[in-house]
Amino acid sequence: MLHPLSAKAEAILRKNDRGGYTVPNGRVYPFQWNWDSAFVALGFDTFDRDRAWVEIETLMKGQWDDGFVPHIIFWTPDGGYFPGPAVWQTDKNPVTSGITQPPVAGTVLKQLWQSACAGGEQAAFRGRALALFDKVLKWHQWFARNRDFEGRGVVVAVHPWETGRDNSPEWDAPGLVIDTSNVGEYQRRDITHLDTKMRPTKADYDRYVTLVQFGRGLGWDHAAIGATSPFRVADVGMTMILLRANRDLLWLAQEFGLTDAAKALTEAVERSIAGVSYLWDDTIHAWCSRNTITGRSSGHITSTSFLSFYAGLRDPARDAASIAHLERISHKSRYLAPSLDVEDGQFDLMRYWRGPIWSVVNYMIAQGLAEAGFGDWAKRINDDTLSLIEVAGFYEAFSPIDGCGTGGEDFSWTAAIWLALQLQMAKA
Ligand code: DGY
Repeated sequence: MLHPLSAKAEAILRKNDRGGYTVPNGRVYPFQWNWDSAFVALGFDTFDRDRAWVEIETLMKGQWDDGFVPHIIFWTPDGGYFPGPAVWQTDKNPVTSGITQPPVAGTVLKQLWQSACAGGEQAAFRGRALALFDKVLKWHQWFARNRDFEGRGVVVAVHPWETGRDNSPEWDAPGLVIDTSNVGEYQRRDITHLDTKMRPTKADYDRYVTLVQFGRGLGWDHAAIGATSPFRVADVGMTMILLRANRDLLWLAQEFGLTDAAKALTEAVERSIAGVSYLWDDTIHAWCSRNTITGRSSGHITSTSFLSFYAGLRDPARDAASIAHLERISHKSRYLAPSLDVEDGQFDLMRYWRGPIWSVVNYMIAQGLAEAGFGDWAKRINDDTLSLIEVAGFYEAFSPIDGCGTGGEDFSWTAAIWLALQLQMAKA
């Protein structure tokens, strides 16, 4: 018998399905978002395999010729969102934004392929897997060329929205140098749908919009933006996610006998392993983002600090330090894993990426912890994700202290993670 909340999760995905792509939330986010779609595909895969693959195929229809995959594809006009196509002015068909988002699609592709194989459908999905593999590989190569200007083996975000963690305190200090004096008038839409206490501040938005204007001013020349943006922060989240996705694409390349791709991916993985220590903060003994312009670590422990396991990094001393942070936070926070250390002075239990728990990050952290042999911690985090959904509903995010839902309701990726975890538990 289907768990009643699984029936509800499926209904949310069906409701948010716009035909080939799924909106994260119909009211607040009325288009296709990049990493949302990747997670959504995992949810669809639990009950409609074909629809899961279509989600990623539709996302890749937004890919530019240089391999870039945008963070939003504006499939249909909707005035209820800011900034819309008139602000981005990327001049693409389909209409897209000009920045990217965390590259989880490669990892999802491996999972979809394994699921198709387990279901005896290799033959039906092999051609689709190969086509998607090529596109995702091209995107990863775009990252290496345009988001790693100094060749460190990390991902350098040029906009807080690229990281998916819009208002993380990790971007506060790097954002201070952005001159917002010419940003002009604009009307935010997010705070007409949601409580301002849950959203980024006006100062944050002025920076977001200024950085969009900066990219637009350079005609969305990604290499130029990557080299000269006033905001160039090596993001620990995207770096770990890309390293993981490169390993998963490498696995697929070997599976399909694609030797040239396998060689290139092996090199990409090795480059990241060699360079990733740039993001280890030796003062607080944690993985943190680092401002490439000043060389300064953010000094903030976030939920993405715990993605090193997911990235496949293994270092006994660093792993022990990370687990010690998790343990410490678990004593102060009812639920794991808050998007910001609850003992950080910037912690804010309801404000987007400054405290609330995100089911998708929990899913990745737990997956990594389980693979690294920390099964108890993985279980604790997965159990917390499920409890939060049971108590509050399918919210965008959740307060780690009291479990209240924050942001949009009936959220697609939260529904998808519920379904993925139910399947995972059924198989265990
Ligand atoms: C928003 O508009 O809040 C998004 O996070 C940007 O992608």
